[in-house]
Amino acid sequence: MSNRPTFNIPDTVKEDTNNYPALVEQFIKGDLDDARFKGRRVPMGIYSQRGYEPGEERYMVRVRVPGGVVTKEQLRTLNELSKEYGNGYVHITTRQDVQIHQVKIEDTPEVLFKLLEAGLSPRGGGGNTVRNILNSARAGVNPEEAFDTTPHNLALTEYLIKTRSSFNLPRKYKIAFSSDPKDDSLATLNDLGFIAIKQDGKRGFKVYGGGGMGGSSELGIVLEEFVEEDKIFHIAEAIKRFFDEYGDRSNKHRARLRFVRKRLGDEEFVNKYKEYLAEVLAEDLEVEDLNRYEELRESKGEKIDLTADYLYQEKVEGYYSLELRMENGDISYDELNSLLDLLGDSEISLRTTIKQGLLIRGVKGQQLERLIEKINQVNPNLVVSNMGTMPVSCKGASTCKLGLCVSPNLSEAIREKLITLGDKLQAALPQIYISGCPNVCGQHIIGNIGFEGKAKRYNDRLVPHYALFLGGNVEEGNSKYGEAAIDIPAKRIPEFLAELAKLLADDQDYNRVDFNEYLDKGGKDKIVELAEQFIEIPTYEEDPDIYKDWGKEEDFSLAGRGPGECGAGVMDIIQLDINTAKSNYQKAIKEEDNNELYKATVNASRSLLAVRGIDTDKDRVILSKFKTEFIDKNLVDKGYAEVLDAALDYKLGDIDSLLSYQGQIKGLIERVEFLFNSLNAKLEFELEEVTSDNNNEDKNILDSKVVDLRGVKCPMNFVKAKVAIAPLDSGEILDIYLDEGAPIANVPQSLASEGHEILSKEKREDGSYSLRVKKA
Ligand code: HEM
Ligand code: SF4
Repeated sequence: MSNRPTFNIPDTVKEDTNNYPALVEQFIKGDLDDARFKGRRVPMGIYSQRGYEPGEERYMVRVRVPGGVVTKEQLRTLNELSKEYGNGYVHITTRQDVQIHQVKIEDTPEVLFKLLEAGLSPRGGGGNTVRNILNSARAGVNPEEAFDTTPHNLALTEYLIKTRSSFNLPRKYKIAFSSDPKDDSLATLNDLGFIAIKQDGKRGFKVYGGGGMGGSSELGIVLEEFVEEDKIFHIAEAIKRFFDEYGDRSNKHRARLRFVRKRLGDEEFVNKYKEYLAEVLAEDLEVEDLNRYEELRESKGEKIDLTADYLYQEKVEGYYSLELRMENGDISYDELNSLLDLLGDSEISLRTTIKQGLLIRGVKGQQLERLIEKINQVNPNLVVSNMGTMPVSCKGASTCKLGLCVSPNLSEAIREKLITLGDKLQAALPQIYISGCPNVCGQHIIGNIGFEGKAKRYNDRLVPHYALFLGGNVEEGNSKYGEAAIDIPAKRIPEFLAELAKLLADDQDYNRVDFNEYLDKGGKDKIVELAEQFIEIPTYEEDPDIYKDWGKEEDFSLAGRGPGECGAGVMDIIQLDINTAKSNYQKAIKEEDNNELYKATVNASRSLLAVRGIDTDKDRVILSKFKTEFIDKNLVDKGYAEVLDAALDYKLGDIDSLLSYQGQIKGLIERVEFLFNSLNAKLEFELEEVTSDNNNEDKNILDSKVVDLRGVKCPMNFVKAKVAIAPLDSGEILDIYLDEGAPIANVPQSLASEGHEILSKEKREDGSYSLRVKKA
């Protein structure tokens, strides 16, 4: 038996890597367009990064680290590559991957080859592929585990990534293994999750499926109470085939396996899975070996008397695992190098963790103090006494094109504030999770406390906010997603948390380990009451700072959500208005407030107008356009016209109450949200009948074959361009005037990604651009 886990990169992945440089060459020469190249590079784990001018683009390489198993040598390679080709930092992700950032596209082939030499590959780091398979970082050394799931994880990874069909699924396919029933690897929350158990002395798994975070997060349901360990391949294969055939490829927002489950219902979902499993079991599946290993523990470790958030006892007495945390998962070249120099001991093994950190396993009790001292010399923040002071955060709007808020900056601000508190207060808070938008990459819904980035409108300006999520929990049989409790302006969150620490530390009923019990016993009300003291929004003149995000000089805006993602930006604007309408409505009901009912009606009506390229603050125009665009076109029931008339009457003072329309206003919001959910990636309603008189107004503009979108901000310029192109025949040509900066960077790419051909881009005398587009 070997003393370390073995993982071999399959030949198919090597072949695909060998084919990659030719694609880059074609792309650089202009022989391969951006959209097609993206389709090839993303499944290679190579993403474009936000914030670069056209021609200056940089890329992130997400390297798959199966089960988090990484050697010191591999970390050195990753570190060297980050210095030579990236920004000199490596980033550890919540899926145990390691990312290198800011790589030039021409350097990516070299990076891939050097990774291959080190036994690593980013293949499947992104795209509609089998993503990195999670594993408990403590698997193999955890005294409470059923057994070590690392061999299973690695063998299944090899099995799945050797087949090319694993890279062309309807959407991501996420799998996790937990060696401990506590489910420290989120198996109950993945598309497919295996939790190690022993039954009658046999090793096997309880299997969960159809879970996942992101849009419409779901907890997984039990697919199998117990299967023997060698069936993991068959189950993963069965789910893959099921997903491949049933996943909705036409709408990426509803393509994940959990939507198949929603469509079929839980019972039918399980039945179908069983059918696929029976089919796979009847075949002679070519599975991989489970390569068992045992880590060396030759010398004697001493037991020590220390409990700390960063320390875990191992199976072998006197041995410990030490958890390091990097701020936002980032560690610099020099720090990582120094850290690796410290870890010379051959007994030590490493794992990346889902808290964006590194677990050092196999430290002897007697070495611990010295090691921590030395690590503190490298960076005193790596060994964190109270995990509550070190949030997990996604990259947010700093590099992610879908980001709304710059979550890493909030995370830093939180940490700066919390470490000024005394130890008792620091210890009061549980682990905090932060995502820069509702996509949950920062896993904010699994934390007892989480924050989700959002934008809110105040007096026609945007204020960065986070929704406070409370009550998340991960544990087999007791997993639960947190729920949004209240929205707090981004700039007020660190102060709020400092006050929360005081509240919790002083509350006799509170114990960090039972955070959710505390919430249920009245704690939630106390926390929300405290948060209410932080939500007031002063006018811009009184406090412009609250209108800016952490670490930003300029006012907060939704613009600049990178090239090719304009459609997503529009979705956010709509979601923002729907959310505002909903909170207006809730407030109206609680406080019998007519004005809030009025605002709910206007905001609900305004939301979907974005799809028609209409962005106005004038209530009267909003209400009348909603009628012509949605009610007259039969997308919204004619009965709602009455509510809109009543809202106008209320505004004009003709009636003084809208309370009798309460039910209809609720219905209107629900209908609008239903339509929003039916929007596909091209911003078309799935239920829409396209009428011949659609866009008459725009046809007039088009007679001149020019649309002037100067002065129209992102992403509304994109929608207006789409509206203008819609009535053209395939092959017809349109000129679009766009402002310099984000508009000319974003709109062409988004139009190209919808299949239209960009014929030219020319600078005009006034500094704006003329874009010539041929309709697909
Ligand atoms: C529709 C868009 C997206 C959804 C629904 C989504 C969802 C998620 C979720 C639920 C996680 C949590 C961890 C997990 O399940 O393993 C995650 C992880 C992650 N996401 Fe996203 N995400 C989206 C887009 C993005 C984008 C655009 C980026 C930035 C380039 C990004 C970066 C990450 C990273 C770095 C992780 C950490 C885990 C990893 O290595 O895969 N995500 N995402
Ligand atoms: S949660 Fe949003 S902001 Fe954060 S990485 Fe995911 S998509 Fe980007």
